Amino acid sequence: MSKLSITAYTFGIICFIICCSMAIFYGFKFLSNDVTLEEESMEDYKYHFVLVPEELDNDYWRLVEAGAQKAAKEHNVLLEYIGPEQADNDIHIKTLEKVAAAKVDGIFTQGLNNEQFTPLINQIVEKIPVITVDTDASSSNRVAYIGTDNYYAGYLAGKALIEDTKGKANVAIIAGNLEANHQQQRVDGFKEAVKDEQGIEIIAIEESKISRVRAAEKAYLILSEHPEVNAFYGTSALDGIGIARMIEKYDQPSRIYVIGFDTLPETIDYMRKGTIEATVAQEPEEMGYKSIKMMINLIEGKYVPSIVHTNTSILRVKDVPLNDEKGDK
Ligand code: BGC
Repeated sequence: MSKLSITAYTFGIICFIICCSMAIFYGFKFLSNDVTLEEESMEDYKYHFVLVPEELDNDYWRLVEAGAQKAAKEHNVLLEYIGPEQADNDIHIKTLEKVAAAKVDGIFTQGLNNEQFTPLINQIVEKIPVITVDTDASSSNRVAYIGTDNYYAGYLAGKALIEDTKGKANVAIIAGNLEANHQQQRVDGFKEAVKDEQGIEIIAIEESKISRVRAAEKAYLILSEHPEVNAFYGTSALDGIGIARMIEKYDQPSRIYVIGFDTLPETIDYMRKGTIEATVAQEPEEMGYKSIKMMINLIEGKYVPSIVHTNTSILRVKDVPLNDEKGDK
């Protein structure tokens, strides 16, 4: 063996050992009960809360986190943000179990579906208060819910679509996850709004698993199978974006109406270009911000309403400023 290949071989073995050690270290870190929670001294803080989102690096959840961190700072709370890298109910549940096994004063999470989340929330709530944010598990004993009235939000989307399409549209729906409570409610509310409209037909419903790439793929497939579709409704933050990407690539000049959810910068950009006509605006920062105060009030024995609905409205192209003053949160 030449000197060069011995060096390359040794280097390869060293890299392999480093990778294995890291995998074992981080695997152990994830499985053990308290290590992902900050080991910071609690002396500097009054309370220790944890927010477990559907997906860590999702722009929508970063807004919820930003609002919550702002309130946490104002109230001397240590707030940790821990959850699945990519939406995954099993990892979400495992994270909640792990957080519940640690000594924290309050937990915020979604009640994504009743089968998986309700029993766990009920178990946790025996020792740690749980507030559901963004998505409620109303059948659980969570102490409160703060977020959009998701059925109403879906209803608003349906009414906006009727108005904008003059009551004539073949609609396809791309939902984040059809098993999640809030996504079902957003679809049900929409169906209720359009049910008496003779000219509106729902042609297909597909899931994106809250990925913009999958939303684009599903929208493309729908159009290939149902060329008569001329309107899309995306029920979670990245769905409208995925649909818009597909339209810009395959349907130019576009004949398709799109209504999405949320006011993420990408959505606003597509609205400025006219690819997305309308979106349902939620208030993720407000949800995060107010949830902290609710938890503090609860711990301190003050009154906390069991349901707090944040505002929901329809934003149309004409309401979007030409530059970044609003919407680009
Ligand atoms: C929903 C969140 C979801 C996000 C996904 C939002 O519209 O309210 O629950 O995680 O979309 O991108």
